[in-house]
Amino acid sequence: MCGVVGYIGKNKALPVLLDGLSKLEYRGYDSAGIALVNDELFIKKKKGRLEVLKNDLNVDDFEQNIGIGHTRWATHGAPTEINAHPHFDNKNSIAVIHNGIIENYIKIKEWLTEVDGTNFVSETDTEVIAHLISYFYDGDLLDAVYKAVDRMEGAYAISVICKDEPDKIVAVRKDSPLIIGIGDGENFLASDIPALLKYTKKVLFVENDEFVVIKKDGVTLLDEFKQKVERELFTVTWDEKSAEKEGFPHFTLKEIHEQPKTFREILNRRIKDDIVLEGLNIPYEKFKQFNKVYIVACGTAYHAGLVGKYVIEKFASIPVEVDIASEFRYRNPFIDEKTLFIAVSQSGETLDTLQSLREAKKKKATILSVVNVVGSSVARESDGVLYTWAGPEIGVASTKAYTSQVLIFYLFALKLALETKKITKENFDSILKELYNYPDYIETILKQSTKIQEFADSQFNNDSVFFMGRGVDLYCAYEASLKFKEISYINSFAIAAGELKHGTIALIEKDTLVIAFATQKRLYDKMLSNIKEVTSRGAYVVCIAKEGDTDVLKVADEVIFVPDSDEDLLPLMNVIPMQLFAYYVSVARGNDVDKPRNLAKSVTVE
Ligand code: AGP
Repeated sequence: MCGVVGYIGKNKALPVLLDGLSKLEYRGYDSAGIALVNDELFIKKKKGRLEVLKNDLNVDDFEQNIGIGHTRWATHGAPTEINAHPHFDNKNSIAVIHNGIIENYIKIKEWLTEVDGTNFVSETDTEVIAHLISYFYDGDLLDAVYKAVDRMEGAYAISVICKDEPDKIVAVRKDSPLIIGIGDGENFLASDIPALLKYTKKVLFVENDEFVVIKKDGVTLLDEFKQKVERELFTVTWDEKSAEKEGFPHFTLKEIHEQPKTFREILNRRIKDDIVLEGLNIPYEKFKQFNKVYIVACGTAYHAGLVGKYVIEKFASIPVEVDIASEFRYRNPFIDEKTLFIAVSQSGETLDTLQSLREAKKKKATILSVVNVVGSSVARESDGVLYTWAGPEIGVASTKAYTSQVLIFYLFALKLALETKKITKENFDSILKELYNYPDYIETILKQSTKIQEFADSQFNNDSVFFMGRGVDLYCAYEASLKFKEISYINSFAIAAGELKHGTIALIEKDTLVIAFATQKRLYDKMLSNIKEVTSRGAYVVCIAKEGDTDVLKVADEVIFVPDSDEDLLPLMNVIPMQLFAYYVSVARGNDVDKPRNLAKSVTVE
């Protein structure tokens, strides 16, 4: 939700800001803006994609070495030029960018109008920050930011520049991500690592309630009491290329195709005769004390958590609850010191997931997280973290991060099962052996791209699509449906196949497209009956089935086969054909696949 970037140093600021914003556009893309400072403050903002802003700026015209930039996902106020960031004060001397929400902004607005006659021009919550800092400004920007923050409630990563102190950027964070990049004679700030990869690999993570003064030759980190904080720098291992499209037309397609590679990477790093849960940080002895696992996440990560439930219960025989983070927070869940709480998040910054984690911590649960972005808030606040090592995921629709989360759940569940003696070593070893085949299996699926694209080209005009499954196939149906709706903009719905006749079947008519997952032997006959129920009402059924299944050919109109493997492991790859289907439908409809409308990659507001 919104991307922030800042630069101060020996080079011109504008190209760095525009480049950084292009890497952060996945966080929000309904307007963009920059502010530069030397003797004067220069602000330019535009409604629409970053491209619109770029086209309105000739970089050669701007010599300034200090600036901040923002790409917006609107929360308060429509996506207009006036509501775009940076926001500035009435004297035009202070410029502010913000990621988050200032919850008490109306109160502050009323107060400033009364005590200072402030003139507000936008509908945003952020504008109050600029005016508040200006109100407190008395020749010391840092001090004014402290005073302003003291009045603010909510979540924020704020960066400020001031015409009267053009040698610094002041930034502060609470519950929204902020990192500092350390260069040589130049320093940076950003919401996320990809914005900095081109310039530096040395990063400083800013924690909650910390303030930073960023100058050309140094960075000072301070706590809420203005005391200096020492923190070790983190070295990023991602390379710049990993955040580029590398010849693919879209990041989403590139990331779908990266899945064999991410699987190989995870398997090679995490299996050394035994499963190595590097980062777990929880003694295996403690596993025996857990009487419940609670998995909490949002969106696609939640769907990975559902598969996690299936495998943990199946292999390790521990009861697992899975909850959507925004629901979990407002329940009174039964969690205590015998609970293992697992937060799942690609970004590690999803606010609801983070707040749920904090709730569980208060209730004394042991906190484990499954996270992709190294050093993110969820990872930092957990007792242990199992990184998915999928590399940067830029496409808003999560693909490779999802399958890597699922793979981590398999490895975790198997290790838990072995340590608690719920699985024999022989069985454990044979599953590991089969897991090694998965990168090849996924390549086999990807080779069906042309067939899937042809199918997508024949179906992209549908008004709605139904996905159905039973057992763990249902969880795959949920994820396939979410992927499909978020990038195709076609109404889609996933349902437990057995539930159809309790209502939803009323929506099935001639040519309704139904995608049925039928890979689970135990439920196979029931699934075929459900398929017949919809075909007899005119539905066009496409089935995801296991290679070698001939019965399915008799009931479905089309079949997409996945390689024949142990059915308990199939959720590792079942969704991949549907990632491709969603992708090609999105392309056929002319949608912006990587940046679907109304969405943002990282949801750092409630
Ligand atoms: C996935 O395609 C979505 N864009 C979205 O549901 C996402 O999975 C969700 O917002 C959670 O994000 P996180 O994994 O970064 O916490």
